[in-house]
Amino acid sequence: MSKEVEFQDQVKTIYRYITLFGCLIGLFLVMLIYLMIDPTLSSFEEDEEEQQELVEIEDLDKIENGIHLATGFVQGEGLQQVINNCTNCHSSQLVIQNRMTKERWEATIVWMQETQNLWDLGDNHETIVKYLATYYAPEDKGRRENLNNIEWYELED
Ligand code: HEC
Repeated sequence: MSKEVEFQDQVKTIYRYITLFGCLIGLFLVMLIYLMIDPTLSSFEEDEEEQQELVEIEDLDKIENGIHLATGFVQGEGLQQVINNCTNCHSSQLVIQNRMTKERWEATIVWMQETQNLWDLGDNHETIVKYLATYYAPEDKGRRENLNNIEWYELED
């Protein structure tokens, strides 16, 4: 083997060691960065799905722009009582699509109690009727306001 070839061989060997060393440092750095991002190694745990489910249930109870997402009810005092008592037998939509006066809401509830097995609402009765009459009151857009301050003119013949 000539000196030159021997030298080239040595260079190659050193080069190989440097590459190997570089790879090891790289690997070490990747592990270090991973540990910094996720110190508990939680992404290797199996209950990931369970956690996701919990988040979804939480989301359903969220209120956005004053609307309770899961039911569509308007946010307001009595919302929780209405959710608890008025969505068991039918959808919240059946409630929402109705607009009534306090008396008619009262009558609807009494009608459900007498004919549809709706239970006694107890202490919540007042709160629920008040909520419904406030947020689901009739919209009286049908009639314009009376005209005021009109200057009448005489008809001439
Ligand atoms: C025990 C079961 C039950 C509960 C709880 C219940 N309802 Fe009902 N409700 C019914 C039934 C049954 C109907 C008739 C459904 C149909 O016509 O398809 C009805 C109908 C209605 C209607 C429509 C009435 C109409 O004239 O069309 C409204 C509004 C209503 N419920 C509001 C409420 C409100 C507000 C609550 C909470 C206080 C409530 N419901 C709780 C059983 C119930």
